[in-house]
Amino acid sequence: MTDEIQKFDDSDDTVTNSSNNRPFEEVLNANLSRRSVMRGSLAVAATSFVAGSSTANAFGWSGLKSRRGRSLVNFTPVTLAEGNGPTPSISPDYEYQVLIPWGEPLEPGGPAYSWPPTAEDQRQQIGIGHDGMTFFPIDRRMQEGDYSDRLFRKHWGQGNRHGMLAINHEFGRNSTVLGKDFPESLDDVRTSQHAHGVAVVEIKKQRNGEWQQVESENARRIHVNTPVRFSGPAASSELLKTPNGNIPLGTVNNCSNGHTPWGTYLTCEENFNGYFGATHNKATWTATEEHERYGFSENGFGYGWHVFDRRFDLSDPDYKNEENRFGWVVEIDPFDGTQVPVKRTALGRIKHEGATVTVGKDNRVVVYMGDDQRFDYIYKFVSAGDWVEMRANGVDPLDEGTLYVAKFNEDGTGEWLPLTIDNPALAARFADQAELLTFTRIAADILGATPMDRPEWVTVAPNSDVYCTLTNNSRRTEADAANPMAPNADGHIIRWRDTEEHTGTNFAWDIFLIAQDTHGTEESFSDPDGLWADPDGRLFVQTDGGQKDGLNNQLLVVDTNTKEIRRLFTGVTGDEITGLAITPDRRTLFINTQHPGNGDPSVTNFPAPQDGVTVPRDCTFVITRKNGGVIGS
Ligand code: FEO
Ligand code: CA
Ligand code: CA
Repeated sequence: MTDEIQKFDDSDDTVTNSSNNRPFEEVLNANLSRRSVMRGSLAVAATSFVAGSSTANAFGWSGLKSRRGRSLVNFTPVTLAEGNGPTPSISPDYEYQVLIPWGEPLEPGGPAYSWPPTAEDQRQQIGIGHDGMTFFPIDRRMQEGDYSDRLFRKHWGQGNRHGMLAINHEFGRNSTVLGKDFPESLDDVRTSQHAHGVAVVEIKKQRNGEWQQVESENARRIHVNTPVRFSGPAASSELLKTPNGNIPLGTVNNCSNGHTPWGTYLTCEENFNGYFGATHNKATWTATEEHERYGFSENGFGYGWHVFDRRFDLSDPDYKNEENRFGWVVEIDPFDGTQVPVKRTALGRIKHEGATVTVGKDNRVVVYMGDDQRFDYIYKFVSAGDWVEMRANGVDPLDEGTLYVAKFNEDGTGEWLPLTIDNPALAARFADQAELLTFTRIAADILGATPMDRPEWVTVAPNSDVYCTLTNNSRRTEADAANPMAPNADGHIIRWRDTEEHTGTNFAWDIFLIAQDTHGTEESFSDPDGLWADPDGRLFVQTDGGQKDGLNNQLLVVDTNTKEIRRLFTGVTGDEITGLAITPDRRTLFINTQHPGNGDPSVTNFPAPQDGVTVPRDCTFVITRKNGGVIGS
């Protein structure tokens, strides 16, 4: 593996925040507890907060359906001894099926998988780098209505055998996608670009119990060259226009996701910087402050797109500002294959991990988002009004509202700091809200947000607790209350509860789990990333990084009452386990393996039989409980 290609793996690991926002340094001392229990006296809405010896009790969490004395996780776990090797392991109480590997046709009858793919075939095939995804049930009532978790639960039992699966294709190494480390032509670049983006497929459970893709009016690939449009406060900004007037195209490095109450999919652009470089005028190109804050560099991560596609050449004056068109949350209608994807600028421009939507006070939508880089921040967006009324008035709820960034205080309280141009400190730096949003990270630096240990996924539990994975940060040299490990090699999970049903500006928080504490036990995990809180009080945790105790990356289920952890699934050597989508009855779970074997056939050929030759392929797993029960139980 060359140094350039190695950067694919390191893309989250650099530090671009030099703002020195280290608000805790002066208040910390060497005796700081690694577990910050709720010590705040903040009179937040969550009046059940009681300082206590157990963080679970501190949150007053009783579990929505917890049965006295009975664990929420009762399956037989995958053991340390089993959770490794070139093929997956699953709890003996569960089984899995492989679905939509990279390169399969989008619909029956499409171009069949062959390796390496042509650009034209890849455009009509499942992409690579399977990541965040949502299952949208096809059922009359679901299509009419509301996809908030609340309504989703109300419709349990509907649309459990048929739906649209919207799935992100985050990235694929050139060596895997092209069969070579560096593109040799624009055609090679197009193949790589078509392997990125999003797929929307229609899937159906067959009579034999297997899920399959079916023909669909609305199945589609959205990739790096698909026309898109901008909406929200920055939509008409000059910062999003190029001198040659090319229309906005594409989405890239689609990491985690979200879904809205109105039934659309949100795909999030994470390490977009790595696809740009400076080639044709590189002698005169210098990185601006904005470029540096977002990690742009002369060679990018080694994809080489900028060498053959001028759009990705930072030094090409015709395409000035093209880079500002990435780093957004993009809304896709999974039920309309003709819809033009919309980049929602009100949600800010960061390295978006995900966009977790919940409905808060006064029916306003709230979107929680992590910016996955060492020492970057956690954000939330609150819509200006009731989302139903806004839509009835022709206003998109994701276009008007307030974006906030989180500041975690040492005493277990926190504040959401509004990123608005009426703040004099921000008005002194930015001409208008559009510029502020285009360079959201710099605005957050100015306000003194709390630098975190790589914020990944966020999930909202039914009792309103919000959980966020902080995957790791090996470069942290000083602990603070919210990031209590220095260095933080293995990550942790933080939890908070907002005032005013997610819409307020204050919160109380604690540390839910520290990964290192599990090492050497059967509960061992590191590098938490994917995250989902189910309606019963279980937390599904996926990992992406070097696991300890000999494990491959994994899917764990945690009882949030007791913090008991059980291992449901382990992937294959060299992969990451990511993506969580579930049917309304919670009897079918979809997860993904990404970059199995890191693309090396001598490590694994999964999902093909182990033949030492066939390239391993990213794919989805359909997981069911053998007794037909709720997943995680
Ligand atoms: Fe794409 Fe931060 O994981
Ligand atoms: Ca991730
Ligand atoms: Ca990750």
